[in-house]
Amino acid sequence: MVAKRFYVTTLAILLATQVLWAQKKNKSATGKELYKKYECVSCHGKYGKTPFDLTQAIEKYDEQKVKDYIKNPKNFGNTRMPSYEGRIAEDQYPELIEYIIKLGRQAQPSPRS
Ligand code: HEC
Repeated sequence: MVAKRFYVTTLAILLATQVLWAQKKNKSATGKELYKKYECVSCHGKYGKTPFDLTQAIEKYDEQKVKDYIKNPKNFGNTRMPSYEGRIAEDQYPELIEYIIKLGRQAQPSPRS
């Protein structure tokens, strides 16, 4: 029956897009999840701007320095941010820093404005 085949095909396509969507979502969520998990969000906000701005960090420091900052903020003269040394696994830093870079990019004014 033609109608049945139509339904089966539609269902298969729907399923495939759902799987692809879920994979995509999963991949881009990792840094964001870490940002929430380690409560960066509570001090730096959803967009990295408020109350404490971290969107300029990647301009001021390179990636290694940003990592050092997160591990030991006190080495940079700041006392309020807690040290994450030993709390965040080494292999999680790239994802987290990638997310900070992303927040920094989003915070830049668009070229046309
Ligand atoms: C208890 C509050 C608090 C938490 C939690 C926190 N921070 Fe911070 N963070 C601060 C403060 C305060 C500063 C200094 C802001 C300033 O000097 O303007 C700062 C500065 C930074 C900077 C440097 C910004 C700059 O421009 O020099 C980075 C990068 C940063 N935080 C990343 C993180 C990340 C990543 C996390 C989560 C793993 C996190 N912070 C969690 C309070 C916090």
